[in-house]
Amino acid sequence: MFEQRLTEILNNLHKPTIETLRQALNQIHATYEDVAPYIQSSSDKPYYRKLLFHSDHVELLLMNWSGLDCAPHDHGHSFGWIQVMNGSVRNQLFSVQPGKLPEPFFEKHHSEGTVFFAPKQSVHQMEGQKDLLTLHLYAPPISGMKVYDLKKCAACVVSDDCGAWWPDEQRQQLKII
Ligand SMILES: [Fe+2]
Repeated sequence: MFEQRLTEILNNLHKPTIETLRQALNQIHATYEDVAPYIQSSSDKPYYRKLLFHSDHVELLLMNWSGLDCAPHDHGHSFGWIQVMNGSVRNQLFSVQPGKLPEPFFEKHHSEGTVFFAPKQSVHQMEGQKDLLTLHLYAPPISGMKVYDLKKCAACVVSDDCGAWWPDEQRQQLKII
């Protein structure tokens, strides 16, 4: 039922604008009960990442957080909307100057039920308690995501199946900067 609903809505999206992408997420109107069957947990990564839908134009991901902060990262050339399904999240935004490490400049809390925007090319880091659950709709599907390790002064372009953490598998490390 839920899968059918989101397939119908998301298959209609072709190069969506910021606004049409937001409307699609509203239209899906996912409830905790809808996504509950897809929740799994991860103990060694910031979240368990479940891909719910993927087309040439959009991707929908469910993230179940384990209580660890994700690494600062961008979303490649994609923008997206993030819906807080359970718990609340602190979203830290970073400014990026060419050739320099990102620096935190703004943070905001988002409570359960809210939806917030992730602009193209912005760098952010999300922190939430265990069982924080977030739903992410991105356009186009994220490719070439850059993850930062501020302690190591390093950045890494990661493979499309990797989340916002420093990849421990060699094949997920596409380019270290
Ligand atoms: Fe992100």
